[in-house]
Amino acid sequence: MNNITFLIKKICCIGAGYVGGPTMSVIAENCPDINVTLVDLDEKKINDWNNSDLNKLPVYEPGLKNLVEKNRNINLFFTTNLNQSISEADIVFISVNTPTKTNGLGSGYASDLKWVESSARTVAKYASGHTIIVEKSTVPVRTAELIKSILSSSCNISEGNNSKTFSVLSSPEFLAEGTAIKDLENPDRVLIGGEDEYAIEQLSLLYQKWIPKNKIFITNVWSSELSKLTANAFLAQRISSINAMSALCEPTGADIKEVSRAIGADSRIGTKFLNAGPGFGGSCFQKDLLNMIYLSRFYGLEEVANYWEQVILLNEWQKKRISKLIIETFYGTVSLKKIGVLGFAFKSNTNDTRESPSISIVNELLENGASVVIHDPKVSEKQISKFFDNEKIGQSNSNFEGRWRYTSDLNLLFKDADAIIILTEWEDYLHIKWKIMSKLMRKPSWLFDTRGIVEEEKLNGSNINFWRVGKGFIKTT
Ligand SMILES: NC(=O)c1ccc[n+]([C@@H]2O[C@H](COP(=O)([O-])OP(=O)(O)OC[C@H]3O[C@@H](n4cnc5c(N)ncnc54)[C@H](O)[C@@H]3O)[C@@H](O)[C@H]2O)c1
Repeated sequence: MNNITFLIKKICCIGAGYVGGPTMSVIAENCPDINVTLVDLDEKKINDWNNSDLNKLPVYEPGLKNLVEKNRNINLFFTTNLNQSISEADIVFISVNTPTKTNGLGSGYASDLKWVESSARTVAKYASGHTIIVEKSTVPVRTAELIKSILSSSCNISEGNNSKTFSVLSSPEFLAEGTAIKDLENPDRVLIGGEDEYAIEQLSLLYQKWIPKNKIFITNVWSSELSKLTANAFLAQRISSINAMSALCEPTGADIKEVSRAIGADSRIGTKFLNAGPGFGGSCFQKDLLNMIYLSRFYGLEEVANYWEQVILLNEWQKKRISKLIIETFYGTVSLKKIGVLGFAFKSNTNDTRESPSISIVNELLENGASVVIHDPKVSEKQISKFFDNEKIGQSNSNFEGRWRYTSDLNLLFKDADAIIILTEWEDYLHIKWKIMSKLMRKPSWLFDTRGIVEEEKLNGSNINFWRVGKGFIKTT
């Protein structure tokens, strides 16, 4: 394999979302001699990627703006012209969404591959010469076979000398939103699953432009696909495990922060993913777990499926127990209560709201008649409005029982609020002056910290009652 020359000059990536956008920006930055084009069917998204105001990029990630500013229209392009980008590309990354199926066979569990399939058909139609296809999307085991069968039927119909050939590789993405650029610049490892030595070497040489060779793992295709699902299942399991313990800490007088620190210091366990919270969110953990549960059941492994399903059930329970606890603190009714919600993104440093625990917690409060005001440094009102019925949007200055409003002004959020709930661990919220802000609130006032980011001393001099996940009621007046 050592004598293979690197021949990649043009890259096309189908899907300009949370994975495609950051991944291609990092490739463009590290490979100035390669032209990288992101294509998407969503015209609005492509316009946003091309917006001269870099604050309007469709994806928020620390460091992304700089990369786009530096490389856009030099060797990094955003377009809806799939046809041309694919036909010119030596390598095509498929980075489209693979959500859980909502109907048909496997509904509620299996991943919907229709976007992967339609991408493969588009590649089959427009590709020319030899094209390497890389699965970046997270897909069920053996999806590469589906892609291959679509591509090979297209080879059969190619005419004359205009023959097309394809190699299919799996190279799942392990980035975490919020640290995507760092993860892509300096990954723990990258996987390349495949059989075709030439294609594997080309992709490996591409990665080697900035990633040390010893971090590039070559596997068979199915190991590569299953490794991605397994990684997400293990990470989600850690969150559900620590959240389960947070619930046990609260009535026993233990503090989850102390427990996390104690167990995290054990090198066999490690410190990461040990923060208790309102439950995991994001587009991947639940979807990938459901997919693995589906696969396990498909192969007759009921116990394996049940084992992993418990991780999801615990996550649902954690969200419910938090909204219930808040409502019960107000003696079972939050109607006529104003509740300020700090954070709507599923975690800090991203504008992604998919499967955010904020959705179900806010919804539960609205169902119980609360008037909810939401703040998030990077999520817009429009984005939040997708999750709630239209009639639940509150009018300003009127009674908005059972409805929500958005504000970018923390003073307005605190004004006359009965409770504040921290749902996303944004750094901005670490700097809140509780003594001053709590004066704006109605008495008795409450703070529910579902992320465990507020230290008790920060509340000194305020009359605020305080509940923290994994510790319980710390201060009640
Ligand atoms: N978001 C993450 O943190 C993350 C991390 C690792 C892996 N993944 C996986 O990567 C994949 C993409 O995730 P994402 O979060 O970037 O999704 P996304 O929804 O943000 O982006 C997918 C994009 O693909 C576009 N698209 C769909 N079909 C298309 C087609 N036929 N032609 C052109 N464009 C098309 C959509 O318009 C959308 O903009 C998923 O399989 C996901 O599981 C996601």
